[in-house]
Amino acid sequence: MRLERKDLLGIRDMSRDELDLILDTAGPMKDIIGRDLKKVPALRGKAMVTVFYENSTRTRTSFELAGKYLSADTVNLAVATSSVQKGESLRDTIKTIEVMGFDLIVIRHSMTGTPHYVARNTSMRVINAGDGTNEHPTQALLDMYTIREKKGTLEGLKVAIVGDILHSRVARSNIYGLSKYGCELRVIGPSTLMPAEIEKLGVKSYHNLDQALEGVDVVNVLRVQRERQQSGLFPSLDEYANLYMLSPARLRRAKEDVLVLHPGPMNRGVEISSSLADGAQSVINEQVTNGVAIRMALLFLMMGGTRDEITN
Ligand code: CP
Repeated sequence: MRLERKDLLGIRDMSRDELDLILDTAGPMKDIIGRDLKKVPALRGKAMVTVFYENSTRTRTSFELAGKYLSADTVNLAVATSSVQKGESLRDTIKTIEVMGFDLIVIRHSMTGTPHYVARNTSMRVINAGDGTNEHPTQALLDMYTIREKKGTLEGLKVAIVGDILHSRVARSNIYGLSKYGCELRVIGPSTLMPAEIEKLGVKSYHNLDQALEGVDVVNVLRVQRERQQSGLFPSLDEYANLYMLSPARLRRAKEDVLVLHPGPMNRGVEISSSLADGAQSVINEQVTNGVAIRMALLFLMMGGTRDEITN
């Protein structure tokens, strides 16, 4: 089976078959990561570039590593030291990259819709690595892969997503993805950080974390975006931690085998207690490893590979 699309811009418009294909292909990719010799020739002769207009540790590095494990030529455009700083427009930057011969671009931008604009204006394949508050599709894919790997299925799980739902592209992509598998989704946060019409996405919203954690299989904790405090959306980090920090005591309301996820980077002691972040229920490090496997699967499928090729 092939991934019949030029670009990966969001989870919202993806079919369940497409999601299954990516998740199923990530398994054999993870096997490659586990080998002594972590290199296959699958993308030899292909070239990819990462262009991040916002900071990143996990996403950018794992895309580069994924490309290298598959033998693609990978380049990072360091935006902070590029001609973007001399005022070059996005359109000209993208055209310049395209005519160098890259096959695929991975782009992150603070403005919602930038990867969609780029996709309309280039022949390169485009992967959205996070656009504003809209979507972060590869984060949702690696979250879904991690949950499925641990639980055996995504079907019908009760999943809580805690924090700044209003500004979170991670929350949005997870909601779009998990709802396609019939998950019961609960979103929790202060009213100032909760979109007014969020329940139209098929989720139930809560302001009380203890109530929302009752019987859940998975808790995905979002990063507190500290800059929001300056905008007056919550009074203080201490106040936020009092009401919304996930702690071992609070987690007792969830199922015994609950999984704790966090996309990173974490504010320990604000949205998640340090003991929980490093505890037995945390799969935060597995998420990072699985991020490499998911991005390998995606690069491979988007550059024409099939699941059968990698499993045979
Ligand atoms: N989760 C995530 O997107 O992390 P980075 O910002 O480090 O890429």
